[in-house]
Amino acid sequence: MASGTQSKAKKKAKPKARKDVLLDIEFNDTSEISVPPRLIDQVIGQENATEIVKKAALQRRHVLLIGEPGTGKSMLGQAMAELLPKEELVDVLCIANPKYPNQPRVATLPAGHGARKVEMDAEIARKSGNKRFIISIAILLAIIGYALIATAGNPASQPQTLLMAMFVGFFIFFMLNQSRSKSEMLVPKLLVDNSKKDTAPFNDATGSHAGALLGDVRHDPFQSGGLGTPPHERVESGLIHKSHLGVLYSDEIGTLEMRTQQKLLTAMQEGKLQITGQSELSSGAMVRSDPVPCKFVLIAAGNIETTRNMHPALRSRIQGSGYEVYMTDTMKDTPENRRKLARFCAQEIVKDRRIPHFTHEAVEEIVYEAQRRADKKDHLTLRLRELGG
Ligand SMILES: Nc1ncnc2c1ncn2[C@@H]1O[C@H](COP(=O)(O)OP(=O)(O)OP(=O)(O)O)[C@@H](O)[C@H]1O
Ligand SMILES: [Mg+2]
Repeated sequence: MASGTQSKAKKKAKPKARKDVLLDIEFNDTSEISVPPRLIDQVIGQENATEIVKKAALQRRHVLLIGEPGTGKSMLGQAMAELLPKEELVDVLCIANPKYPNQPRVATLPAGHGARKVEMDAEIARKSGNKRFIISIAILLAIIGYALIATAGNPASQPQTLLMAMFVGFFIFFMLNQSRSKSEMLVPKLLVDNSKKDTAPFNDATGSHAGALLGDVRHDPFQSGGLGTPPHERVESGLIHKSHLGVLYSDEIGTLEMRTQQKLLTAMQEGKLQITGQSELSSGAMVRSDPVPCKFVLIAAGNIETTRNMHPALRSRIQGSGYEVYMTDTMKDTPENRRKLARFCAQEIVKDRRIPHFTHEAVEEIVYEAQRRADKKDHLTLRLRELGG
């Protein structure tokens, strides 16, 4: 019994010994560690990349982050979006062009005004639609009523005449209601909506195909005959447009088709790009919008191999007017960096919302694991996603 208690005490004493070695701050659990509000201040290690992202945000320059998975590349992209001003954000509308329907117009309004404009125009269209419905019902009833009165004296021919009247009446009713009113066709489409943004936009384009990235025009099987959806409504903005005045993030950018990378480069140079159908056989390919603004900051990421496959012109554009940064996968094993790892634990728990806070002992376990996983002596790993998982 006594020896049992003794061995338990020994087991408990072991982490205590490690505590002195591993972590020099006192806390019961990680809820006592304060987490900085800004994402950029939550980034651990990566001092060089953090400084460059701060600088690039001020200058609105592109950045290529080269490094191993889970070292914080996406996190830095998001942090950049938080640093960009959100005051100048705009909504973008696509407007019908009655003269040349296949060349829809584009207009920008201050953020929040786009949705309101669309709502107002839709309301006008709804009212005119209701009016049309009521008029067509009145016409239908009038024709049937007239047929009833006209045949009142001749009951034998009544069913036949009534049937004719109903046929004509319903035909008119259908014709009036099936095609959309002019005002309905003119309701603009909201291409980019920034009404609910707390920060500048951040869009992850990793793995997106050309249409999602550069915008597209949907195919319309009923394009002729006035039954279809008007061209301006079929225009879809791409992530480059949604990232206007914000951040477009792309991991493994070298895996994008060369043609798409070329277009991306054009968009970066011009700060605007027309939207057209990406699939050449669809009716969408006939439609070409006015240029749509896309002044985004590109944060491209990848490891050394994938960045080698990047379009040379795209890469040299970033090298020439932006920054290329190598992420580090370890940091020195110092008391300060261990404390940062404790803060990392607190951050991850706050972000996750489900896992309970870590005890001092559990954080030490993480520090120990970070030492073990670093491939350099006296270093801590910065492949923090792996460590968090
Ligand atoms: N340097 C860091 N500081 C703080 N947290 C980090 C850091 N690196 C990674 N993390 C944590 O790990 C998560 C995953 O990292 P992130 O997605 O930014 O890595 P990545 O470099 O983009 O990886 P991948 O190449 O696989 O996309 C982050 O959301 C963050 O919670
Ligand atoms: Mg990532």
